[in-house]
Amino acid sequence: MGTTDADFLTSSASILVALVTIIFLLHRTWPHLSQPKVDEVTGSTVITSSNDSGLTVSKVSDIPEGWWNGRKVFELERRALFSQTWLYLAHCSQFQKPGSYQSFDVAGFPVFLIRGKDDKIRAFHNICRHRAYAITRKETGASAILGCRYHGWSYDSTGRLVKAPHFDDVPGFDKSQNSLFEVHTHNTDQGMIFMNLNCGEPAAFGSEVASTLSGFARMASLEAKSTWVAGQTLSGGFNWKVGARARHLEVYTSQLHRRMSEVSGPSPVMNLVRSVTRKSTLEEYSLFPTTHVYSFRNADLCLALSFFPASESKTNIRFDLFARSAVNEPEIQKMSEVLQSATKNLIGEIELEYQYILSKQGSSGELNNTDTLQILGQLKEHTKLERIEGGQILPAMHNPEGSTLFQRAEQQLDCVGDGSQNSSQNDTSPNALDW
Ligand code: FES
Repeated sequence: MGTTDADFLTSSASILVALVTIIFLLHRTWPHLSQPKVDEVTGSTVITSSNDSGLTVSKVSDIPEGWWNGRKVFELERRALFSQTWLYLAHCSQFQKPGSYQSFDVAGFPVFLIRGKDDKIRAFHNICRHRAYAITRKETGASAILGCRYHGWSYDSTGRLVKAPHFDDVPGFDKSQNSLFEVHTHNTDQGMIFMNLNCGEPAAFGSEVASTLSGFARMASLEAKSTWVAGQTLSGGFNWKVGARARHLEVYTSQLHRRMSEVSGPSPVMNLVRSVTRKSTLEEYSLFPTTHVYSFRNADLCLALSFFPASESKTNIRFDLFARSAVNEPEIQKMSEVLQSATKNLIGEIELEYQYILSKQGSSGELNNTDTLQILGQLKEHTKLERIEGGQILPAMHNPEGSTLFQRAEQQLDCVGDGSQNSSQNDTSPNALDW
């Protein structure tokens, strides 16, 4: 039987009616699925997914007060995020021999990584167990024994206290109870080192991160035996979240990509083949919350770029470049220059954006970056727990055994005269550590 014009019009009208009905029903039901509600902790308007406890934030339309420069938000980030999240710090190729160390300051937590005499790379709080002065004073170095310059307490590369002048004679003083505070680390098969400052049992290292990272490293030719080429820490006047959300990173990496290819690229023939096959040679992966890693495949190079907060408005930017195989000295020099100049440009751009953000503060804004939303989710969750607890929860705080012996030895030291500068003014003995 043939289809007439009338039949066609009738069936079109039915389809139209059905579509209008569906749209009407969706319009009626959708607001109930995603009803915004005002969050009590941050005062922000959030939409939470329906199958969780209300802690997972899927969309935020308002920026919480102080998000970009508030001291209280920064302090909360220290407790809620940096004290209990796995943070990428370095690659094992940065620690060539036993005693090689590197110091970091992550959100006001001074830590250092050191390769032990047993070849294991460990992380420690960079705090002397005597009166909390810094143990490593340089950013990088190598030493089998790390001596505190104030009163001579010395630690070996596994963090063990080996010398404590004036305390050795105190009856019952136990050196083994005064080792450096160790920090949890996780080393991936590709030699990437993460730390977690939680002094209790930290969350397991994410298996999804591990497998994605493993795929990235395979593609980037990043291995435990890769070579560290160059690295530097620069500082910028902006809140770390502005840098870490990667708004300017695309320009930065494509600039680097082009210039690295000039410095250390494949043959012109290979370049031609790649441009014909249009195979992408730049890959990137974000390591929440501070780091991005990039692979410059056409040059067999891999870059790690981290934004470590120093305060609510200052950030330390650390970059490290790794190569699959050894790189000659003139090339290292050229690559360092390229990296330094590109990173300085990047910092300048982020600082400008930060100033713009601050000038607009108070007007409505949007947090629509996945990482940013995750940060907000963690802060909210921690705030909720602190409310239940009735006080601050400080996951990174160590509570060393308070000790009469310690105080007795301190008195003895004071009698001898310790020679430290402003020791009474700056005294932050282990018992008084407050994070
Ligand atoms: S020996 Fe380190 S603070 Fe006294």
